[in-house]
Amino acid sequence: MFKLTPPLGWNTWNTFGEKINEQLILDAADEMVRSGLKDCGYEYIVIDDCWAMKERDENGKLVADPAKFPNGMKALSDAIHAKGLKFGMYSCAGTLTCAGYPASYDYEFIDAATFAEWGVDFLKYDYCFHTPLIKAKYLYRRMGAALANCGREILFSACSWGIDETQKWIKTTGASMWRSTTDIFDSWSFIKKLTAQQKELHPYNGVGCFNDMDMLVVGMGGRGNVGKESGCTFEEYRSHFSIWCMMGSPLMIGCDIRSMNEETGSILMNRDAIAIDQDPSCNQPYRITDCRYPDEDVLIYARLLTNGDYAIGVFNMGDAEHSADFLLDEIGLPISCGKTLLMRDVWSGKEEMPKNNTVSVRVKAHDCRLWRCKVV
Ligand code: GLA
Repeated sequence: MFKLTPPLGWNTWNTFGEKINEQLILDAADEMVRSGLKDCGYEYIVIDDCWAMKERDENGKLVADPAKFPNGMKALSDAIHAKGLKFGMYSCAGTLTCAGYPASYDYEFIDAATFAEWGVDFLKYDYCFHTPLIKAKYLYRRMGAALANCGREILFSACSWGIDETQKWIKTTGASMWRSTTDIFDSWSFIKKLTAQQKELHPYNGVGCFNDMDMLVVGMGGRGNVGKESGCTFEEYRSHFSIWCMMGSPLMIGCDIRSMNEETGSILMNRDAIAIDQDPSCNQPYRITDCRYPDEDVLIYARLLTNGDYAIGVFNMGDAEHSADFLLDEIGLPISCGKTLLMRDVWSGKEEMPKNNTVSVRVKAHDCRLWRCKVV
């Protein structure tokens, strides 16, 4: 399935792990609509691992656990579609999923047909328990071919964590997104680590197949399946979201949206930040390195947007407050061009302008500034 912009949605794994069931999914779908998340573009409701019975049926088909999903997946998918949302599920390229449930190795075409029958719109495809005898690219091509021939449009979300230089072959599989990081956990150290993992991968992100930096932990507050870490502060979650938007990652919410507070909603539903993520050009973000106070922990990124605006972000990944001071030359606006920027802070709405072609800010530890800038 050809996607023009990074997919947006919600996924069960980060908060719920194996504690999933039909009512939870329906409630989350209702909340997606009621809260306004759907109006902001979030559309996929994705059930991650742990939905299946441990055995296939006599025809080799996967079976949804009736204790968790008493009405089956087709009924659930119909209910989700009736709310104007799309339905996602999960399998794996190995013999078992990461949590030990049956997976699709050598069952690719049977499983793709089952997902089509159930009305699935999105398949996350993991990489645990894979045979060492067959390369990752062959395993992902199998499911890619099976999905492309299943008679239904199903978005293929590959999740091999960048193994075997996934970026070099993933576009041969028909995938619309691919996990370009290891797994996220709910703490600043993971946000920092996953951000660093993108450093060399920006050129591979773009229209049709997006670098997936993993599901968001915004709003988890240290609770839930990947919440055993300390959790993050409001500023850290805001930086996390800003980085994912600046880098054009899919935005898959991972918190319990049924109990989302105002702060969490204000991050996840910031339309200016989402517009940067969803900018139709999908131009590559790049790091500004020509700055007066260089520091490996201070990341300054820019991205040219479709209408000629720029997204610019200063991300202080370090543990101390820091100055950032950079020239506009590096983004193509030398002083000789006679142009400057009108910078609108995505989080505060305040406008400011560079002085002498230089942007100067101080950013607190783990905090960020994110602007949408007009060339004036
Ligand atoms: C892997 C994936 C996670 C999640 C779990 C489920 O670790 O990377 O995103 O899907 O498996 O078991």
